[in-house]
Amino acid sequence: MDLHQLLLERHSIRRYTDQPIDAGDVKTILEAGLLAPSSKSARSWQFVVVEDHDMMLKLQACKPTYAASLATAPLAVVVTTSPGKSAAYVEDAAVAASFMQLQAAALGIGSCWTQVRGRFTADDMDSEEYVRELLNIPDDMCVVCIIAFGYSAETRRPVDPSKLLWEKVHLGTWRDEFEPEQ
Ligand SMILES: Cc1cc2nc3c(=O)[nH]c(=O)nc-3n(C[C@H](O)[C@H](O)[C@H](O)COP(=O)(O)O)c2cc1C
Repeated sequence: MDLHQLLLERHSIRRYTDQPIDAGDVKTILEAGLLAPSSKSARSWQFVVVEDHDMMLKLQACKPTYAASLATAPLAVVVTTSPGKSAAYVEDAAVAASFMQLQAAALGIGSCWTQVRGRFTADDMDSEEYVRELLNIPDDMCVVCIIAFGYSAETRRPVDPSKLLWEKVHLGTWRDEFEPEQ
């Protein structure tokens, strides 16, 4: 499938089947993260791979809502990044996370981002601190997100290209209206 078609068909997947992800595919997904571009090529990110179901449930408690994808995921990658290594540490991590998600989609594997940075547990603990403690991540690493991966147990429709928000695109200078060419 060509990249554009993949982008039209990709959706966040929050429920997964029991099918495990083949070790070769896990490696390919991680390779995509390691291949991601980063500011000044600093590669400020580091990834923690989680496949243990009990740990997955503990990670799900990093915030009270919007972490449901972790409940059924056979694989999660915790995306951490070092503020000491790059001023663009968050951007570096976000690009790497997206690369892994797109690689997974190309392998027919669904994924979902769980935001950690700037979030809090049900007990009002900083979600980053909670995840750091669980996984023994050093204090100076920022935990941006956890990406859940697995085979989809949901049916999602491809995006209709006619619904894209072209009004957000400004040609030449900022303008309030934009009509795409027919
Ligand atoms: C920065 C960022 C943070 C996100 N945080 C969460 C999250 O915490 N929980 C979740 O279920 N989805 C999360 N998502 C997924 C978005 O909700 C999803 O991409 C959006 O609703 C569009 O849906 P789609 O991915 O199916 O196109 C996040 C996505 C991004 C890019």
